[in-house]
Amino acid sequence: MLDITIIAFAHHKGGTGKTTSCLNVAGYLQKDGKRVLVVDCDPQANATTGLGINPETLRLSIYDVFMSIFEGFPDATITDVIVPTASGIDLAPATLDLVGVEPYLYSIDDRAGVLREVLAQVKDAYDFILIDTPPSMGQFVINGLVAADHTVVTLDSGTFALKGMDALSTIFGDIREMLGEDVSADFAILTRWKGSGDPAAGTGGFAHFLRRIFSPAPSADEERERERLKIFEAEVRKTFKQVFTVPYSPVIYETQQRGLPISHYAPESGAGKEYRAIASALDRLDK
Ligand SMILES: Nc1ncnc2c1ncn2[C@@H]1O[C@H](COP(=O)(O)OP(=O)(O)O)[C@@H](O)[C@H]1O
Ligand SMILES: [Mg+2]
Repeated sequence: MLDITIIAFAHHKGGTGKTTSCLNVAGYLQKDGKRVLVVDCDPQANATTGLGINPETLRLSIYDVFMSIFEGFPDATITDVIVPTASGIDLAPATLDLVGVEPYLYSIDDRAGVLREVLAQVKDAYDFILIDTPPSMGQFVINGLVAADHTVVTLDSGTFALKGMDALSTIFGDIREMLGEDVSADFAILTRWKGSGDPAAGTGGFAHFLRRIFSPAPSADEERERERLKIFEAEVRKTFKQVFTVPYSPVIYETQQRGLPISHYAPESGAGKEYRAIASALDRLDK
């Protein structure tokens, strides 16, 4: 039995918290003494910049690893492109070039399994590999899901119904049917969540408390919105084995600006504590 766990963070919509969740989970696992690799599979390279690496300074990236399977491109292995980062997390970085890979992938039959094969080369070097995927339904998401043992789906307050999940469920179904792969989404993270629980959680302690005391009672609109989120959260809890909520927290943005996960910058913040719990839950998963 391998004792490496590979986890993909996915949702086809942008801004639902994939990259944030990937990096912050990686941070706590790293703090626990795990050897962690983050694989950035999004041409926007937010995981790369979020770990303090400027894509423009890179000589090699995950682009080169994908392209080296095609004739006429130089050989590059995953170990060639991995860079250490300030937090101690290793990174297989992305650059904007990555958009150029997809058309090539369509020319080969086993296009869904490329990343899985690539990661097999470093399975002895890490305890966890976390894959950040782009907000699309393309080959990088499919490669991420196929390579992963578990998938974490991120959703935010702007998600109005699990109907939005249909597209992802279709991908899961297709992968199961066409490739005979066992993929399922066991985890969901509701990010920037204003739903149930303490609305002040994680957002600035006493000042927030005061603001809450002196703010007027919620309007009818706010009540309706709260009700909608409650219903949505219940729907999500019925669909996934485990669901986490992470409150809105300005600290998240600060940590990303500093190129560090929240675990290495503000571990005691509300959002930090949630990501602490998520990382522990993922650490307890079957391999
Ligand atoms: N809990 C949170 N509190 C505040 N801002 C957040 C939180 N989670 C994510 N964000 C912000 O939301 C934006 C989108 O998140 P991101 O993780 O990049 O989404 P995705 O990778 O799904 O596109 C980012 O600017 C990020 O800083
Ligand atoms: Mg992202």
